[in-house]
Amino acid sequence: MKLVLAPMEGLVDAVMRDVLTRVGGIDLCVTEFVRVTSALLPNRTFERLAPELQTGGKTRAGVPVRVQLLGSDPACLADNAAKAASLGAPGIDLNFGCPAPSVNRHRGGAVLLKEPELLRDIVEAVRAAVPAATPVTAKMRLGYEDKSLALACAQAIVAGGADELTVHGRTKVEGYKPPAHWDWIARIRESVPIPVVANGEVWTLADYRAIRAESGCDTVMIGRGLVACPDLALRIAADGPDAPRAWSETLPWVVDLFRQCRERSGEDRYPVARLKQWLGLLKRTWPEAAETFERIRREQEAARVDLALQGLLRGE
Ligand SMILES: Cc1cc2nc3c(=O)[nH]c(=O)nc-3n(C[C@H](O)[C@H](O)[C@H](O)COP(=O)(O)O)c2cc1C
Repeated sequence: MKLVLAPMEGLVDAVMRDVLTRVGGIDLCVTEFVRVTSALLPNRTFERLAPELQTGGKTRAGVPVRVQLLGSDPACLADNAAKAASLGAPGIDLNFGCPAPSVNRHRGGAVLLKEPELLRDIVEAVRAAVPAATPVTAKMRLGYEDKSLALACAQAIVAGGADELTVHGRTKVEGYKPPAHWDWIARIRESVPIPVVANGEVWTLADYRAIRAESGCDTVMIGRGLVACPDLALRIAADGPDAPRAWSETLPWVVDLFRQCRERSGEDRYPVARLKQWLGLLKRTWPEAAETFERIRREQEAARVDLALQGLLRGE
């Protein structure tokens, strides 16, 4: 049984991965997607999206971070995968699920689920290009418009030689609208010989137990649920308690993220925006997050926000 932190572009960057894996309970991370078009990307592109490459491919807490690639050209993806592996990526993940129109228009992400043969060619080329010891994994949705090719896509990914497959239980057109179809994850798991990781709509310990029971998968990937409730991973690892920890135990992690963002950028906008973004999701779990948001809503200067946070940490 393992727990994977989902890749989330614009939300789960290296700072968020650092904080969430230090909270604990997460076994594996995947980077935001690295977009591959027609060129071999420079080292700095990989190191920007996966700074963990400079620390052995692991977060500060020692959790491995696979590098996710998004594109449609098998040869170019293979070259970039080989480069990421040579830079120390502990695994290469392939994105076959992104629903963004700007990505799909350029034949990337979920639109590839209309072409199972291309999925196989991509996985095969990437598998051949990286060392045998480096896992090559894929992440798919159930289809583009409908689920008619779901099993064919999963089997094509297996035929290409993938080591593991994560299934987000929705089609592209279903977007992020609940429910996620955990029964379809089970159908895919039953039809392929490789480990399948279940993903979609896990917000609580009860959801985690339910997705495992319904999908039959041992490993679960969680995205928004872990950002909205960072201690969910620890409670999953310990099989309880059901209720989240107190907000006072979470606030120091929020301040930690804000300060790391501030150190990284040296300007005001980025750390303040990241803080507000995270508080927006934490509100789902703690009403106090909404109060904190209100306290800093009008602030634009990072130094003033930090002062407000210091007051909150002192319980004022
Ligand atoms: C803001 C955002 C960004 C995302 N970026 C990526 C991405 O870069 N790569 C990817 O494979 N999936 C991406 N996803 C999909 C998530 O990895 C995950 O499959 C989805 O959120 C469902 O899981 P959840 O219900 O646990 O959040 C993104 C989702 C969100 C909400």
